[in-house]
Amino acid sequence: VPVAQLADAPFLRACRGEPAAHKAVWFMRQAGRALPEYRALREKAGMFEMIRTPELAVEATLQPVRRYGVDAAILFSDIVVPVEALGIGIELKPGVGPVIDQPFRSAADLRRLRPLEPEQDIPYVIETVRALAAELDVPLIGFAGAPFTVASYLVEGGPSRDHARTKSLMHDEPETWRALLDALADISLAALLAQVAAGASAVQLFDSWAGALTPADYREFVLPASARIFAGLADLGVPRIHFGVATGELLGLMAEAGADVVGVDWRVPLADARRRVPDGVALQGNLDPSICLASWPVVAAEATKVLASNGGHPGHVFNLGHGVLPDTDPDTLTRLVELVHASQ
Ligand code: CP3
Repeated sequence: VPVAQLADAPFLRACRGEPAAHKAVWFMRQAGRALPEYRALREKAGMFEMIRTPELAVEATLQPVRRYGVDAAILFSDIVVPVEALGIGIELKPGVGPVIDQPFRSAADLRRLRPLEPEQDIPYVIETVRALAAELDVPLIGFAGAPFTVASYLVEGGPSRDHARTKSLMHDEPETWRALLDALADISLAALLAQVAAGASAVQLFDSWAGALTPADYREFVLPASARIFAGLADLGVPRIHFGVATGELLGLMAEAGADVVGVDWRVPLADARRRVPDGVALQGNLDPSICLASWPVVAAEATKVLASNGGHPGHVFNLGHGVLPDTDPDTLTRLVELVHASQ
């Protein structure tokens, strides 16, 4: 579908704070192991192999759109794809997440990063986005990892509960830290610009683990790098979504970084989140993904509370507060989309 015809898609209208034909909904991690058709695809190929094979990545992106009837597709890829393409050894361990061969520990490790050249380094991502833009009749969301969250994987070597090594590098070697975040910002910005050029209609910056930081540390050590990414996208006219988990105390700063839409997890009611961001910034969220494992009457009641907390504000995209959990019954998500669509 030509980009011009998508301009009035409910998802894009909600991102801009405009009333729409129906309330828009999509789900973070809508592609993946909650879907039997995804598990069938994944039996044939590993994660990186799927991402590098446009035919498979296109199919994994389309599966949840067909199944759930969501208002947006999200590119099938991962936040560590650009740094992996630059030669950082990374494994995506099922049930764990990204695991790094040789974690970043000092200034010398900065030499392992160079600027991303999307056409050379991630041509398969560009090809996948192009094919999707031609095929989809809903907007495609491109995405990248925010510098802090990607840095956290590189420094910790894998998922981390306390992000202690990351925080000590940040405070002990602020110059190394800043250089690392600037390099990662340039890499994510290049990846996002390439996705938009290839046909993505919106972008989401995932700073999944930024909620581990104090507002003061976020402002000093993280916000400037993320703000450079948003500034680099400002002239493209595509909505910029900024998401993290447990970021209740950071919502205002995450908007200040340059987002048009701020993602909210389930810990903060939307009505409170609304007061923490400037007027004109839209919200995305925020049903607790764990609730989706409960019986349908519970899911319906909790989703209705989310809608009530938004109070009919046009600048709201319904989503979960974090990604779909693998044990979710896909039929629950189909019913949830129907409920949200019928809600206004
Ligand atoms: O449907 C979608 O959301 C699109 C694709 C997508 C994936 N990863 C595919 C994936 C997106 C948007 C991501 C982003 C991502 N990756 C984030 C930010 C979102 C978030 O959850 O906060 C993060 C932190 C990562 C890092 C990462 N990669 C994790 C934590 C995992 C999960 C490990 C697991 O198995 O639970 C991965 C692997 C991964 N990325 C899978 C998928 C579908 C599972 C891979 C598999 O099939 O084994």
